Amino acid sequence: MKTPAFHAVLFDAYGTLFDVYSVGLLAEQLFPGRGEALATVWRDKQLEYTRLVSMADAGGRRYRPFWELTRDALRYSCRRLGLPLDGVQEDRLMNQYRHLSAYPENRDALQALKDRGVPAGILSNGDPSMLDVAVRSAGLQELLDVVVSVEPLRCFKPDPRVYALGLQSLQRLRPELSAKQVLFVSSNGWDAVGATWFGFTTFWLNRAGLPAEELGVRPTHEGRSLQELLALPGLEGARA
Ligand code: LAC
Repeated sequence: MKTPAFHAVLFDAYGTLFDVYSVGLLAEQLFPGRGEALATVWRDKQLEYTRLVSMADAGGRRYRPFWELTRDALRYSCRRLGLPLDGVQEDRLMNQYRHLSAYPENRDALQALKDRGVPAGILSNGDPSMLDVAVRSAGLQELLDVVVSVEPLRCFKPDPRVYALGLQSLQRLRPELSAKQVLFVSSNGWDAVGATWFGFTTFWLNRAGLPAEELGVRPTHEGRSLQELLALPGLEGARA
């Protein structure tokens, strides 16, 4: 067996394995002509709220689970866009968020990593119950060695403690593992930047073809699909 240069792969969840914009279809049914706008503003506000509560109090007192911040962000976004959101619509959209579509390529990519003997996991802002439902709905539980939520830390990415927690979880499987030997994969440019600052080797899964973040830092690798991830030097060594 050829030993891969990467000894583990850690994936972001929302946007990377699960399609956060898939809620746009239901949003479009509920608010014709505004579904895409709602999905976009909702996602941006959700992330803004994670940063706000993280930055406001390093002791974690402002922390609220991702699920609650997601609901708050939905309410704000509807008010911002002038969309009347009733309780039933809110519950339907939140329920849709709980069952986001998984990208079809996930399974093959995770199976390929397993076949190559590379442990794989999730490191996410999501709270454990959200991640559990998403992983099970997508039938990915057998293919993931760890699913790590920020919850015990009471802060969100890109706080470096979050990436450190991901590394520690993998070190329970591979005690000698260094940050550089972990390939961190995110479709969120800012998350790929945060993980690069932390010291992970990073792959920015640029599904949307967006420009790279400025800030004077670049993810180690970039590609448009998980197929490109699998072709990276250091990951291509398949177990015979
Ligand atoms: C996550 C968000 C950032 O899953 O997408 O952590």
